[in-house]
Amino acid sequence: MARVLLISLASCLLIVNQASSIRRCDLARVLHEEHLDGFEGYSLSDWLCLAFVESNFSISKVNETADGSFDYGIFQINSHYWCNDYQSHSENFCHVDCEDILNPNLLSAISCAKMIVSGSGGMKNWIEWRLHCAGQPLSYWKTRCRLG
Ligand SMILES: *[C@@H]1O[C@H](CO)[C@@H](O)[C@H](O)[C@H]1NC(C)=O
Ligand SMILES: *[C@@H]1O[C@H](CO)[C@@H](O)[C@H](O)[C@H]1NC(C)=O
Repeated sequence: MARVLLISLASCLLIVNQASSIRRCDLARVLHEEHLDGFEGYSLSDWLCLAFVESNFSISKVNETADGSFDYGIFQINSHYWCNDYQSHSENFCHVDCEDILNPNLLSAISCAKMIVSGSGGMKNWIEWRLHCAGQPLSYWKTRCRLG
């Protein structure tokens, strides 16, 4: 009995752990509400492009990096510097648990991203943004999104 319970609990957790994605315009609305449009000079389209190239709009993405730290969430925020995952040394500059960065309400991810982009280098701190978004025409990212 306990075993059956455990197995079904485990499969529930697996399901919960699967990529939870947000649609482009839903993300645009949240980012707009949280005042990221123009924050530190970066447009809403920059933020959308960043989220796409980092996570393909997956809120729950966790990926191990070459140095053994992990990147968390829609902006792939790194545990070595920005959040604490209690698994390896972390500077924890955002004073946040990495798990919170995966919260579907996105508030922790957004507030930590604001801190990162406010530092030197701005959005260039995200290599994928520099490679795929910087200097590109990006306004199509918010095409047909109603920002309310
Ligand atoms: C990105 O997400 C979409 C929708 O969730 C999915 O269909 C697609 O396969 C994903 N692409 C990659 C490269 O993971
Ligand atoms: C995970 O991170 C590694 C190291 O940064 C990177 O090379 C790899 O492309 C990433 N994988 C995914 C699925 O993003």
